[in-house]
Amino acid sequence: MTRRLVTELCGLELANPTMLAAGILGYTESSMKSIIEAGAGAVVTKSLGLEPRNGYPNPTVVQVDCGLLNAMGLPNPGINYFSEELKELKNTGVPIIVSIYGFSSKEFAKVAETAVSLGADALELNVSCPHVEKGGAEIGCDASLLAEVVGEVKKRVDRPVFVKLTPNVADIGAMAGAAVEAGADAITAINTVKAMAIEVETARPLLANKFGGLSGPAIKPIAVRAVYDVYRTVDVPVIGCGGITSWQDVVEFMLAGASAVQIGTAIAYKGLDIFKSVTRGINTYLKKKGYKNIKEIVGLAHKF
Ligand code: SIN
Repeated sequence: MTRRLVTELCGLELANPTMLAAGILGYTESSMKSIIEAGAGAVVTKSLGLEPRNGYPNPTVVQVDCGLLNAMGLPNPGINYFSEELKELKNTGVPIIVSIYGFSSKEFAKVAETAVSLGADALELNVSCPHVEKGGAEIGCDASLLAEVVGEVKKRVDRPVFVKLTPNVADIGAMAGAAVEAGADAITAINTVKAMAIEVETARPLLANKFGGLSGPAIKPIAVRAVYDVYRTVDVPVIGCGGITSWQDVVEFMLAGASAVQIGTAIAYKGLDIFKSVTRGINTYLKKKGYKNIKEIVGLAHKF
């Protein structure tokens, strides 16, 4: 792949600006290896906590007209189980970002320490799951709690800490500001949008948990707006996430201010080829426009 696409992110070098988003195929070494082979510049694991967790009963994912609605309930085998998986991935040369969650700042810090000791190249704090009690967005919607979590993690690890924010707040720029003031090295915007769907014949909510998070093309304009807002508020890299299905979407996020992007739901619709097709498209765009490096387009929309 061309030097033009090489992306520097908090000291990590990505061959291109695309990353696997947390929650999609990010459990096992083999699924993540297949994403790396498919051309992702970095991978983010499924969110891992201190202890194994079963998650919610089914149905946990439903397809709606404009995307996917999910409420899995953070099922995961626990951070310790992940050590073998992580070891295998270390020799790929592709940055491995471990997504972590916790129910208190101390728990976040403990999981963070373990993830780093297992070889995480960076951490992404999931303070934005829209439907988990006492964690997720309950932290990410409260600026002082958010700052406490970020501060505690930063005290305990020496790797870059990305903070994944929820769009379900009045002012995402302010939340990004609180996270950065507490030490966040980058902001990922956004996690899913809190949503629900109801089956009309039975009158039952479709998800067992009733509420879930909407992902896919419907949320892309919300995510682009969030990236734009965060970029103009804080002085750390922004990672765009939400509804990306094409190279044009990636360019749009970068013009709004993203230094890199995450792709998730589109894998379910388009398969793993999306990473290569997107990077090919961006490369052609940059060449046609005369840009020598992808970072030249980051935030260009702010000129207007
Ligand atoms: C889930 O496991 O329910 C989704 C996690 C998230 O949205 O952060």
